[in-house]
Amino acid sequence: MAGNRWLKLAISGTVLLFVLAWWLTRPEPLAALHAADHNPAEADIRRGEYLVNIAGCVSCHTDAEGQGAYLAGGLGLDTPFGSFFAPNITSHRTAGIGAWNFTDFVRAMHLGIAPTGERYYPVFPYTSYTKIKFDDLRAMYAYLQTTPPVATRNKPHETHWYINRLLMPVWQSLFFQPGVFQPDAGLDETLVRGAYIANALTHCSECHTPRNLLGAARPELFLAGTEAGPDGDPVPNITSSEADGIGDWDEDELLLYLEEGELPDGDYAGGAMVDVIDNSTSLMDPADLQAVVSYILSVPAVDQGYLGSEQGVRVRGQSKNTQQRSCNANRGGSIFALTPYSDPLL
Ligand code: HEC
Ligand code: HEC
Repeated sequence: MAGNRWLKLAISGTVLLFVLAWWLTRPEPLAALHAADHNPAEADIRRGEYLVNIAGCVSCHTDAEGQGAYLAGGLGLDTPFGSFFAPNITSHRTAGIGAWNFTDFVRAMHLGIAPTGERYYPVFPYTSYTKIKFDDLRAMYAYLQTTPPVATRNKPHETHWYINRLLMPVWQSLFFQPGVFQPDAGLDETLVRGAYIANALTHCSECHTPRNLLGAARPELFLAGTEAGPDGDPVPNITSSEADGIGDWDEDELLLYLEEGELPDGDYAGGAMVDVIDNSTSLMDPADLQAVVSYILSVPAVDQGYLGSEQGVRVRGQSKNTQQRSCNANRGGSIFALTPYSDPLL
């Protein structure tokens, strides 16, 4: 029948498109990686633990609300594209990533590619982690291999029908640019350190930068806030805009906020930022935290204006209502990707 022929044509056309997309976007082999040390020094393992902490892996990979084991898999992250479940990344050999070698880990973190060759959804913020230096990845890998193995099985994602992993090569080729952090020579060292931590590790902009319809960050609005952040909640502008950013905060105020969550007006942080403070910024070394503060306050003002003064007050006041709420549950929001930073330090 003619209908059947069209169906066959449509199917083979689609398959052909996928094959073409895969071919065009197939990964370049990674430049020779020195295998990670089989007996890493204790100091490297501890440094890896610190980096894993400040990069916020726990916020997604531990189901704190469900009393899940450390890094054994998270609660659902609700996004406009469906719910995603962060997998088990303990050292368990089958349920976790205990059987991975260092190259597998680098491919995941730096290229967003699984050992099977499948591409990850950018709800896993490899769009920021791609900037992590390989030395730091090596320490993180060494630490993760020492975590207690937990046999918790991964939950399948619950995405909308039109979201499919096979589309990810196309998404990656459009919106993802792998690349290690490489600041220009001669920049202030503290700012460079702060930019590295904020962007490569603690990934502030994954939440604080608005995204386009396909979930990719809009670099021209770097850190300028979004109406649709994690949980669908608004996320404030943290550029130095006086009108709707934090241009009127001084260093001590930002330091106090990132250490303890206290806002300049005496109120406290709420929503997804509670996790960021508890699991990342409050654990930073004083020098690292200071560097992040200096860097964030140096980010040029972007006045997005989506927060009219009334709404701005609402966003900032919302902490009172959200503080009681689970921090971990459903906090993916539109944590989708982020690529070409407009930031001059990156
Ligand atoms: C915003 C939430 C979030 C954060 C933060 C996060 N991840 Fe993930 N991660 C995910 C999700 C969701 C997936 C699954 C992606 C997919 O299936 O495409 C994932 C996948 C992974 C994988 C692949 C595991 C596998 O079995 O294939 C590794 C490895 C990983 N993450 C490591 C890390 C590390 C290390 C950190 C911290 C530096 C981290 N993640 C931070 C959400 C997150
Ligand atoms: C997982 C998402 C997420 C990440 C990552 C994140 N933030 Fe936030 N941030 C939020 C949300 C949501 C709020 C609003 C908090 C509230 O409702 O009280 C917020 C609020 C803030 C505020 C308060 C601004 C104001 O005007 O009230 C500052 C400052 C801030 N974040 C800085 C940072 C920095 C610096 C980083 C990176 C080191 C970061 N955030 C990473 C989600 C995030």
